[in-house]
Amino acid sequence: MDRRFRGKVAVVMGGASGIGLAIARRLHHEGATVLAADVNADALKAVETELGARFHGMMADVTHEAHVEAAIAAATDQFGSVDTAFNVAGASRPGYIVDLAEADWDFTVDLCLKGVFLGMKHQARQMMRQKTGGTIVNIASLNAHVPMHAGSAYVSAKAGVEALTKNGALEFAEHGIRVNAVLPGLVRTPLTRRHFDNPDALAAFVERIPMGRPAQPEEIAAPALFLASEDASYVSGASLLVDGAWAVSGYPDMRPFRGPVRWNG
Ligand SMILES: NC(=O)c1ccc[n+]([C@@H]2O[C@H](COP(=O)([O-])OP(=O)(O)OC[C@H]3O[C@@H](n4cnc5c(N)ncnc54)[C@H](O)[C@@H]3O)[C@@H](O)[C@H]2O)c1
Repeated sequence: MDRRFRGKVAVVMGGASGIGLAIARRLHHEGATVLAADVNADALKAVETELGARFHGMMADVTHEAHVEAAIAAATDQFGSVDTAFNVAGASRPGYIVDLAEADWDFTVDLCLKGVFLGMKHQARQMMRQKTGGTIVNIASLNAHVPMHAGSAYVSAKAGVEALTKNGALEFAEHGIRVNAVLPGLVRTPLTRRHFDNPDALAAFVERIPMGRPAQPEEIAAPALFLASEDASYVSGASLLVDGAWAVSGYPDMRPFRGPVRWNG
């Protein structure tokens, strides 16, 4: 396994499950010391048992600035620095615009957008104090570009994460800090379990995905680590779609009407 992150300290906000866990595991395998901040204590314990040395789980709610600040301070105090950070925590309370309660809008936007802002703020402050530069990767969504029925709060928050990423890239560039976003399509995680448990819903999704399948969390972690690594040393302010070509499939599948390809090699 490549050891691109040997000697580096990484922070993963929302690192106890799904995409965040896949990022934490891969960072650890590639040599990083990893602090994962999350609200799920049991899941953090399980990852601590799995990964052992060079992994530390910490309870923190990304919607509370004091928690975020404490997580970054803990990484710095215990491990000496914060070199790379991933803002991954997210979830939504869906509802059509005409139905959506203010509290449900606030829940989703606070978690998915304010949480990323707070993460970036304190991660960048620490990287600026160190004067070593650093990298930040935010997990947005294909829904930053594509609306979804009953998804207004999530879609708006994820579009905000993409914009916030570009703003961070602009403001932090002079400090040697790169900021990028990953926009996943459909990924098999606990967050999307309800889609996978419903064969009709899953079929409706997969029909729109040219690669014909959802992603595994590891397939999001790998491009996220690429953006955080020296392999992406001139990439900042970018949005990387990781969606099995879903974003380019807006039009219905015309193959049944066009007939087969004539070229046969
Ligand atoms: N799964 C997908 O299909 C998909 C697609 C596009 C984008 N995303 C995004 O990827 C990110 C990760 O999603 P996932 O699918 O891995 O979900 P997940 O539910 O498996 O993991 C999310 C993690 O965030 C943690 N979390 C939730 N609220 C928190 C809070 N307030 N503070 C700290 N941690 C908190 C959870 O405990 C959990 O460990 C989210 O931002 C999600 O919107 C997921």
